[in-house]
Amino acid sequence: MSESALKSSVQEFFISKFNTTPRLFFSPGRINFIGEHVDYNDGFVMPAAIDKGIVFAIAPNNSNMLRIHSIDMNDYYEVALDKIEKHPGWQNYVLGVIDQFQQSGLPVNGMDVAFGGDLPTGAGLSSSAAVECGLAFGISTIFNIPMPRVQVALLGQKAEHTFPGVQCGIMDQFANMMGKKGHVLLLDCNSLNYQALPLQLDNYVIMLVNSKVHHSLASGEYNVRRKQCEEGWSILQKHYLHAKTFRDISPDQVKQLEDHFDADVYRRCLYVTEEIQRTQIAAELLKQNKLQEFGQLMFATHWGLSRLYDVSCPELDYLVTEATKYPQILGSRLMGGGFGGCTINIVEKDSAAQIADEIKANYKKAFNIDTEVYIMQTEDGTHEI
Ligand code: GLA
Repeated sequence: MSESALKSSVQEFFISKFNTTPRLFFSPGRINFIGEHVDYNDGFVMPAAIDKGIVFAIAPNNSNMLRIHSIDMNDYYEVALDKIEKHPGWQNYVLGVIDQFQQSGLPVNGMDVAFGGDLPTGAGLSSSAAVECGLAFGISTIFNIPMPRVQVALLGQKAEHTFPGVQCGIMDQFANMMGKKGHVLLLDCNSLNYQALPLQLDNYVIMLVNSKVHHSLASGEYNVRRKQCEEGWSILQKHYLHAKTFRDISPDQVKQLEDHFDADVYRRCLYVTEEIQRTQIAAELLKQNKLQEFGQLMFATHWGLSRLYDVSCPELDYLVTEATKYPQILGSRLMGGGFGGCTINIVEKDSAAQIADEIKANYKKAFNIDTEVYIMQTEDGTHEI
């Protein structure tokens, strides 16, 4: 659905439900070209905001109540602002944001909210960050709370840590707030410095293939990976005194200490150090528009995520293996947290439709799952419409 069609439907819904005129905000999902599971390990990532997302309609209601309707869930919820606490389900993503405003001493008053979008949930496109940052940006706008964009991103991340309880890195919220149409962000997750690199795909398009395997980061595996990396880092730090973060350590240096680690922790550290190096090389390749070589690194990331980081699944491995059969696909890999969700592929424009049909048919034969394929455009970060 286009942003303007989404806008009209959310706006109409809001007016019929709350009988007042809202302000409207678009909050995008994100893709990530390379740099996976390294945002919480002081690495580099290369995300972009996309033209699929969530529209928020918000208006103050001069009361002490948050009244909110999730159009996609077809579910209404209301709560007094002095009674904000965790609530399982979509509400947690919303309530975590309100709680963060309150914890920071920022004045949030009663409001009516409706939101809905075209971002598939559990597909690795970061619908959770889109909810958190879209709402936080909307609140700061309607209540005139001046907040730099990066602060909104950090607030969204904190909300995710505290209410849904996923100890995520900053990539998703950062891409949501700082994304720039026609660009990919090269983000240093340690300093939060970033560059917006022009994305020149020429005869290629970004194609996502949804495995339809529903990933649930909250299931705990994500937090387990974080813990394993922390454990690995504490060992590395003792041996390599010069190193301030993972990025100061090479994969060879990890290999030299293999005997010191638990086997899983060893493989996690190897992946992280490899991926940090890979992303830096990939950024240079993208700057030189060397898409062939860039794509090869995407494949390498996938197999690292699958064999060393253990966040893939048979369906995703199958989709990437299929992709390698097409010379028209430059790169393919699982994207986001993993355990399901989408693969991201760089595909020759003229062949994309035909390849999508073939992949759909083969995937159906292999897993009896109807996949969905999306051709993505990049978009600006969260903004009022
Ligand atoms: C999720 C998290 C991000 C990041 C990715 C993996 O999307 O929210 O912070 O860690 O997984 O790269």
